[in-house]
Amino acid sequence: MTGPLPAGSDQTTAEDEDFLRFVGLIRSSTRIDLSQYKEAQMRRRLTTLRHKHGYATFEAYWKALSGSGALMDEFLDRMTINVSEFWRNPSRWDVLASRFLPELLAESPRLRCWSAACSTGEEPYTLAVLLNEAGALSRSQIDATDLDRTVLAKAAQGTYPARSVKDVPKKMLDSYFEGSGDRDSYAIRKDIREKISFRQHNLLDDAFGGPYDLIICRNVMIYFTEEAKSGLYRRFAEALRPGGILFVGSTEQIFSPGDYGLESADTFFYRRSYA
Ligand SMILES: C[S@@+](CC[C@H](N)C(=O)[O-])C[C@H]1O[C@@H](n2cnc3c(N)ncnc32)[C@H](O)[C@@H]1O
Repeated sequence: MTGPLPAGSDQTTAEDEDFLRFVGLIRSSTRIDLSQYKEAQMRRRLTTLRHKHGYATFEAYWKALSGSGALMDEFLDRMTINVSEFWRNPSRWDVLASRFLPELLAESPRLRCWSAACSTGEEPYTLAVLLNEAGALSRSQIDATDLDRTVLAKAAQGTYPARSVKDVPKKMLDSYFEGSGDRDSYAIRKDIREKISFRQHNLLDDAFGGPYDLIICRNVMIYFTEEAKSGLYRRFAEALRPGGILFVGSTEQIFSPGDYGLESADTFFYRRSYA
């Protein structure tokens, strides 16, 4: 966090201190460091949540939170935004399928992929479908991770309401999803689901595996401070093999990729430099 003070103020208010103490308590009890998320957004979201339960201060909210698994689950669920979509920004997935997957598959006999901050699974399932279409799913590994265990449980289940699959190309919907009788619930095919290994992982605290051929990390960096982002770009680059690809979200351009050992490969795609 750049600082708890409102712009133009040089005084820490009692409210700032209350929030800062809360940040410290959350960090020591959960290893989630809220200070690495953009402060204004995070504080607003958590203040709304606290008010919903009628707590006047973060101290009072913390006392309730630390004694209630349900409140803690709700806090973990609300502190981040979990929205995801299949084929989110379709033109970028087209570039992945037509250009980068063939390139990566030509270079690696076994493709290692990581969908980081995968939320409810739409992103790794989109990747799995594209790899299957390329005839390469059986020689691919897809790790999919998120901080939030609730979304991971949904992801592993692989069942989605009709509104979630509305952007899935019709041909893919017919081939890869099984609809329930009333067609309001669609389940991703079992063989696709079983190819993905979902697990909990905190990008800001846990070790990165690798080396990966492809890392997809989209629509989570926007929530982090500039400092946190820099650290993550460096760690993503280190987790890629030379020539490996980092695929980011469509508002998440990296301004000086060379600082991290990355080079721009296409819009919202970065390649780990060979040098
Ligand atoms: C908006 S969703 C993005 C989902 C997907 N990548 C997409 O672009 O559609 C952001 C996800 O980031 C996860 N997240 C937030 N902080 C995280 C952290 N420190 N480590 C791992 N995941 C995190 C949230 O739980 C949430 O599921």
